[in-house]
Amino acid sequence: MSKKIEIKPLTPLVRKQIIQAQRNEVTEYHIYKRLARATKNKKNKGILNSIADDELRHYSIWMKYSGREVEPSKWDIFKFYWIAMIFGLNFGLKLMERGEERAQINYNEIGKEIPEAIQISIEENQHEKELIAMIGENK
Ligand SMILES: [Fe+2]
Ligand SMILES: [Fe+2]
Repeated sequence: MSKKIEIKPLTPLVRKQIIQAQRNEVTEYHIYKRLARATKNKKNKGILNSIADDELRHYSIWMKYSGREVEPSKWDIFKFYWIAMIFGLNFGLKLMERGEERAQINYNEIGKEIPEAIQISIEENQHEKELIAMIGENK
């Protein structure tokens, strides 16, 4: 038996932002998965995989509101992966860390209509801290 969730209609701007957020989450999921695969350090591999899982869960939360699937950006996945391969994993992690910071603004705005956005925002902050710690260790 499935539980019916009452969802109030979203403003067009928020809906647009959610679809963009979904695209970012699923793209980040693939990038973190790839970075985890490219990492030799067991602990860091675990952290990157767990961040990837979070991103996929975030994607599902947004999907509950947008009611649609969104494809990842194949170009971004390709680009980030090769940047990390050419300039090193640490450089790739730094770029991802900056992306986590940027996303924050969006999530707080969406949070006015979608309460789960606040929890997502907290987890993105956590990702940022984990990435910074990883970058520091790799130096
Ligand atoms: Fe996320
Ligand atoms: Fe994140």
